[in-house]
Amino acid sequence: MTHIAHYRDTFISYLEEKVTVSEPKNLYEPIIYILQLGGKRLRPVLTLMTAEIFGASPQKALDAALAVEVFHNFSLVHDDIMDDAPLRRGKETVHEKWDINTGILSGDAMLILAYQLFENYKGKTFRALAELFSKTAIEVCEGQQYDIDFETRNDVTIPEYLKMIEYKTAVLVGAAMKMGALVAEASEKDAQGIYDFGRYLGLAFQLQDDYLDAYGDPETFGKQVGGDIIENKKTYLYLKALQNASDANKEKLTQLFSVQPDDTTEKVQAVMEIFNESNAPEAIKTAIEDYTSKAFQLLQTLNIGAKEKQLLQTFGEQLMNRTV
Ligand code: IPE
Ligand code: IPE
Ligand code: MG
Ligand code: MG
Ligand code: MG
Repeated sequence: MTHIAHYRDTFISYLEEKVTVSEPKNLYEPIIYILQLGGKRLRPVLTLMTAEIFGASPQKALDAALAVEVFHNFSLVHDDIMDDAPLRRGKETVHEKWDINTGILSGDAMLILAYQLFENYKGKTFRALAELFSKTAIEVCEGQQYDIDFETRNDVTIPEYLKMIEYKTAVLVGAAMKMGALVAEASEKDAQGIYDFGRYLGLAFQLQDDYLDAYGDPETFGKQVGGDIIENKKTYLYLKALQNASDANKEKLTQLFSVQPDDTTEKVQAVMEIFNESNAPEAIKTAIEDYTSKAFQLLQTLNIGAKEKQLLQTFGEQLMNRTV
């Protein structure tokens, strides 16, 4: 069984070999830029790891892993436009470095390139991968639309929020793992089991992302800290704060989340105070732990060896202790 860092290195070498600049430069350079900016490479590592866990050579899963990472990066390019985000992985976002039109078209091309990579598979593996990918990609769009719709709604519930993050984030983590299982021709039951494990991990992962967006270290986080507050994102922190706050703070928080002032520093500070006073960070930490342990419980029911379970559990633990 290979070490996690080895999967990452294998993946990065493959990415560098496959993704190169061609003409027109203004289409391809932003694609190379975002794909080479780094990132944790969480999803492709999971695809390779899962393929090997179910008995295939990780090499066989490289195209699926690359498809997932290219799709993920496409979603980030468009997400940064939608969220008006200035920073990604500590550098300028694509639409800041170039412009919005460039971000739209380079993103579109990445979505197509991701699909194209499945053409390297044949027969029923190709069909299964393409079906899973289409289903997942449309769910991500649905999740992204809910996320945007919630910005201007003041009656978002926690179940609605959980559905939104399941779609925008968790299904892709599940799909990344299921693709490894599909490449390895694992049984339907095993493929579904590993999908559900990834989905739970993905829910915990997005909750952690929401936590870091407010409480991360600006030096290391790589994104604009407070970005979700500035954009009136109805995250778990916000929804819990609203639930737990005093009546006065409830009103203040609702008011703060109904505007987009020029001076965002003051808004972020005022919102953070209410988050802190209403134990929102504690509540989100509990939710992260709950979903992580749900994932680990599910892991125990899977038809894989103890070593493989341990590898996946270690990966999950590392993910939840991340600062980026
Ligand atoms: C960011 O994903 C978007 C979310 C779904 C939270 P990652 O945190 O995996 O981003 P990178 O690829 O490591 O930069
Ligand atoms: C990411 O949600 C979901 C997708 C990109 C599909 P966020 O908007 O929270 O991601 P970050 O925080 O910008 O990475
Ligand atoms: Mg965003
Ligand atoms: Mg977003
Ligand atoms: Mg975020």
